[in-house]
Amino acid sequence: MKFKIATIPGDGIGPDIIEQTILVLEKIGAKYGHQFEFQEVLAGGCAIDAVGEPLPQETIEVCKKSDSVLLGAVGGPKWDNLPGNGRPEQALLGLRSALGLYANLRPAVLHEALKDACPLKPEIIGDGLDICVVRELTGGIYFGDRGRRPEGKLGEEAYDTEAYSVGEVERIAKTAFDIAMKRNKKVTSVDKANILESSRLWRSVVNEVAKQYPEVTLEHMYVDNAAMQLVRDPKQFDVMVTTNMFGDILSDEASMITGSIGMLPSASLGEGGLGMYEPIHGSAPDIAGQDKANPIATVLSAAMMLRYSFGLEEEANTIEEAVTKVLNLGYRTGDIMSAGMKLVGTKGMGKLLIDAI
Ligand code: NAD
Ligand code: IPM
Ligand code: MN
Repeated sequence: MKFKIATIPGDGIGPDIIEQTILVLEKIGAKYGHQFEFQEVLAGGCAIDAVGEPLPQETIEVCKKSDSVLLGAVGGPKWDNLPGNGRPEQALLGLRSALGLYANLRPAVLHEALKDACPLKPEIIGDGLDICVVRELTGGIYFGDRGRRPEGKLGEEAYDTEAYSVGEVERIAKTAFDIAMKRNKKVTSVDKANILESSRLWRSVVNEVAKQYPEVTLEHMYVDNAAMQLVRDPKQFDVMVTTNMFGDILSDEASMITGSIGMLPSASLGEGGLGMYEPIHGSAPDIAGQDKANPIATVLSAAMMLRYSFGLEEEANTIEEAVTKVLNLGYRTGDIMSAGMKLVGTKGMGKLLIDAI
C-alpha cells in the first residue's frame, strides 16, 4: 500500500531523530511491500528563519492532504525572546488545533532491559510498568484567553485562562475509557477539583461517561497527589486521563520511569484518520547535531502511526520488537546508558534498529 507522510523535522535534535525514523520506515516499507512517500515541511524556529512565521499555511495544507504527520521537535534558545504568538512552540499548538487533534496518547512502558536506567528501586518497579497517559490536547489553559493588563494587584499583571466545555471533556474521557477497555480496565482521572471550577466540571463529565463503561474502574485523583503517586507506586496506574497542562507535566514525569524522556512516543488523534506522531521530548538544544539524541521515542511514535493511522498492526509490532531486541543486546544511547552497556549515537541506534527489522 501507499501512504503519504508529512515530515516536520523542526529544530534542535528534530532533524537527527527524524532522519533515523524515516530510514526505519523505509526498511519497514521494503520488508512488507509498502510505499511511504515523505514530504518535508517547515514548522518551528527553522520556519521563522526561512519564511518569518512558525507555522506557514503551506505546512498546514500539506499535512491536511497527507495520511499522517511525523514531527521531531520545535523550539530553542535562539527564538526564546520572541513574543508569545511568534515563538516556535506556537507551531505545535497551531497544528494540533488546525488538525483537530484533541487526544494525545502517551504510553509509558518500561522495557525489562532498561530497569537499570529507571531511577526507581527494583521493588517499586516489580516486573515492569505500562501506563498510558491520555492528555487532552486542544483545550484548557493552552488555548484559553491570555494577556496582560496594566493594573494588577501589585503592578502590571499577566493572565492565562483554563476553560473546558462538556463536549471537550466527554470526547477525551471516551478516548480514555475505550483505551482502558483494551488494557487493564482502570481509568484514573487527574484534576484539581478541590480548587478549579473547570476541574469540577471535568470530574462530573467523566463520571457521566463512566456510566457507559461499567466494566472499567474509575478513580479520581488530585494532580499533586498523582505526581507523588507516580513515583511512590506507579504500578497502581493503567490509563491516566487529564487536562492539557497536567498531562504535559505528568507525562514528562512518567517518561523518567521508562528510563529517559528519549523513550516516550506519542500519537495525537482526532475524529478523522489523520494523526500526528511525535516524541514527547523537546528539541534538546544541549545535544543537537552531535549524534547523541535517542531516536527511540520518535521511532516508537512511527510505530504508533502504523498502528493508529494505517492499521498496520504487524508492522508496528515489528518496530516495537526491534527496539526490544536492540535494548536486550545491550546497546544504549547516552540518556539510557548504564554500567556494562554499549554506548551508541543516534545514527548507530538507527542502524541497529534497521538491522533488527
Ligand atoms: P527537552 O525535552 O528538549 O530536553 C530536556 C532534557 O532531556 C535535556 O537535557 C535533553 O538533552 C534531554 N533529552 C530530550 N530528548 C532527548 C533525546 N531524544 N535523547 C536524549 N536526551 C534527550 O526540554 P527543554 O530543555 O525544556 O526544552 C528545549 C526546547 O524544546 C524548548 O524550546 C521547548 O519549548 C521545546 N520543546 C518542544 C517540544 C516539542 O516540540 N514537542 C516538547 C518540549 C519542549
Ligand atoms: C509537548 C511540549 C509542548 C506542549 C510545547 C513545546 C508546546 O512540551 O509536546 O509536550 O506543552 O504541549
Ligand atoms: Mn511537554
